[in-house]
Amino acid sequence: MSNTKQILAMLRSRAEGDDEMFFSIALQVAAAEARQGHRSAAEELRAEVEKARASKARGAAVPIAFGAPRGNLEGLLELREPHLKLKDVVLDAMVVKRVSDIVRQQRRRDWLREHGKKPSRRLLFVGPPGSGKTMSAEAVAGELGLPLFVIRLEQLISRFMGDTAAKLRVVFDETAKRRGVYLFDEFDAVGAHRSATNDVAEMRRVLNSFLQFMEEDAATDSVIICATNHPKMLDRALLRRYDQVLEFSAPTKEQIKDIIFRNLRPMKSPRLAWTKILTAAEELSQAELARAADDAVKDAILDERGVVGTDDILMRLEERHRMRSAFLDASKL
Ligand SMILES: Nc1ncnc2c1ncn2[C@@H]1O[C@H](COP(=O)(O)OP(=O)(O)OP(=O)(O)O)[C@@H](O)[C@H]1O
Ligand SMILES: [Mg+2]
Repeated sequence: MSNTKQILAMLRSRAEGDDEMFFSIALQVAAAEARQGHRSAAEELRAEVEKARASKARGAAVPIAFGAPRGNLEGLLELREPHLKLKDVVLDAMVVKRVSDIVRQQRRRDWLREHGKKPSRRLLFVGPPGSGKTMSAEAVAGELGLPLFVIRLEQLISRFMGDTAAKLRVVFDETAKRRGVYLFDEFDAVGAHRSATNDVAEMRRVLNSFLQFMEEDAATDSVIICATNHPKMLDRALLRRYDQVLEFSAPTKEQIKDIIFRNLRPMKSPRLAWTKILTAAEELSQAELARAADDAVKDAILDERGVVGTDDILMRLEERHRMRSAFLDASKL
């Protein structure tokens, strides 16, 4: 592209409010400079683009891409404005490393593309209920300053019986039009093995449209996250198409402490008997731990105490165990 053409394209993208196009052309100019051996000019341009992008991401409360889904998207996607960052989620070091890796590739995706590489953007989150999958998807969106769109598949399938594949197509097209983090939740509903006996034509269509979608390229580099509790039910052909599979697991002792501690804030909780708490916390999920600590804090607030003690926490942890066994008993009936 000649200079004039580039300037024209930048002006047009400016007029249309298409920031991504604007930055992308600026980076093309930088690449052209670099090819001519003007290294410092190229670096300066790139640095400015990154700076502009970062400041845009920080001010992400602006309405740009955060408008709620309208028209034929209504009821398919649920918009959540991300309030979390990665540091807010208690995760295994390996999971943190992999998630940070994706965030890094996404932040510098133009740089990767200039070198003929595609940034990773398709992730599968596998793990038990309440282990932080949804929370981590929100954190990825928060780190990138992108909106989070949640698609609840179980719900979608039961609502649009017979028409699910067509509805999903509308969602898939949206991912290519509007950059965001798209979380396909309750994904086991779709990923069920194609030859499973309970398979119906509808599910086959849904799975096939997913397989096709996962092969498509999108200039927007939207991040696609699928979350499931049952990896075994997932179709192999589908599994192959993810850039990363991240496993979430039950919390370790350190993580139990960390989650309880974080959820007790801003209450004071001096000299807790951690050994007792850790024993009482066994087999509870991260979500149950967070809820137990939160309830203990609410007790203290209502009792007008400024302090949460070991017994308050133990009581709430035991309550969570009882809720869990009541639920398990009920599901056996
Ligand atoms: N790893 C974690 N670190 C800190 N808090 C957590 C973590 N996991 C869960 N929580 C707490 O539990 C809540 C629910 O977690 P989340 O919705 O992310 O679980 P999930 O893995 O998506 O569960 P599900 O499979 O039921 O959808 C969070 O909002 C948070 O308060
Ligand atoms: Mg979830």
